[in-house]
Amino acid sequence: MKRILVTGGLGFIGSETTIELIKNGYEPVVVDNLFNSKSAVLDRIEELTKVRPAFYQVDCCDEKALEKVFGENEIDAVIHFAGYKAVAESVEKPLEYYRNNLLSSIVVLRLMKRHDVHGIIFSSSATVYGVPSRLPLVETDPVQEATNPYGETKIMIERIIEDEAKADPDFKGILLRYFNPIGAHPSGLLGEDPNGIPNNLMPYVSQVAIGRLNHLNVNGDDYPTPDGTGVRDYIHVVDLARGHVAALKRLETLKGVDVYNLGTGRGTSVLEVVKAFEKATGVKIPYVIAPRRPGDVASNYADCSKAERELHWRAVLTVEDACRDAYNFQKMNPEGIK
Ligand code: WQD
Repeated sequence: MKRILVTGGLGFIGSETTIELIKNGYEPVVVDNLFNSKSAVLDRIEELTKVRPAFYQVDCCDEKALEKVFGENEIDAVIHFAGYKAVAESVEKPLEYYRNNLLSSIVVLRLMKRHDVHGIIFSSSATVYGVPSRLPLVETDPVQEATNPYGETKIMIERIIEDEAKADPDFKGILLRYFNPIGAHPSGLLGEDPNGIPNNLMPYVSQVAIGRLNHLNVNGDDYPTPDGTGVRDYIHVVDLARGHVAALKRLETLKGVDVYNLGTGRGTSVLEVVKAFEKATGVKIPYVIAPRRPGDVASNYADCSKAERELHWRAVLTVEDACRDAYNFQKMNPEGIK
């Protein structure tokens, strides 16, 4: 298994994964429509790995254009990142999220079938667990109605992959349920680079740290958690990328579909993230307590023992490592990647 189609391969997690694939002797073929990424990321991947992967600026909803990529490359497996991922935006624009995320996935799966590509790794999310009934979350915990259309698309695509595997004995898939990806490549060349005001905590804190935003609004301090603020399982994006390489190895021997949580197994509150950021960078992060954000759960963190056992993978970088790397990336790219 050598040539890996990476959809969304210039994105935050996709680009880190492309780097880890190259470092592990794979040949990534990158597809990205640049809706939520920059073509300059390709130059930075080349700078970091001395390899310039094949790149196609293609929207995965465009079956004709994506067919060309399969036709021109002997693809062995697919890692499917491409999709919209902003929770709040998905509540405002559900039709766009259902169309884009479902159609792109169905097109990828149809072309895999047509071109005898049997294995997919799908970028899923802890959001599929909905409001956790117990913690830490294990893969056998029920998939419940998500608190937003973004999460619903992840649930539906997991279902589509499972149904396809039931229908086609040659087809196999790994569903990777990410918790909260944070941090950046230690070089500062790649990182989380959202358009506009960040929804997610870490890029928001990083922009406060460089003075681009005035202060952090802590979304609620009256949750049933140790310090009242939301608790999440923050995983360094480089650890997450390495988890994909580990999953690719598992895919070679897999039958059917399997699911893995990719997290650290530890919960960290918003105020603990602020403290870790200040410790890692020496920069004070001013904040105010703001109202709760609709759709937020109080606490969410993973049991990752299955990935450790079966993928021989576990996260090794800390929240402080991620704060240091995120700040370094933000300082080197104050207005984002140009
Ligand atoms: C984390 C914590 C907020 C911003 C979502 C998706 C998940 C994945 C990551 C895409 C919460 C608090 C945040 C701020 C704050 N999606 N917060 N002030 O919502 O856990 O996960 O994004 O990759 O699938 O569900 O991440 O970073 O938005 O929030 O207090 O300005 O930080 O309330 O407790 P979330 P987040």
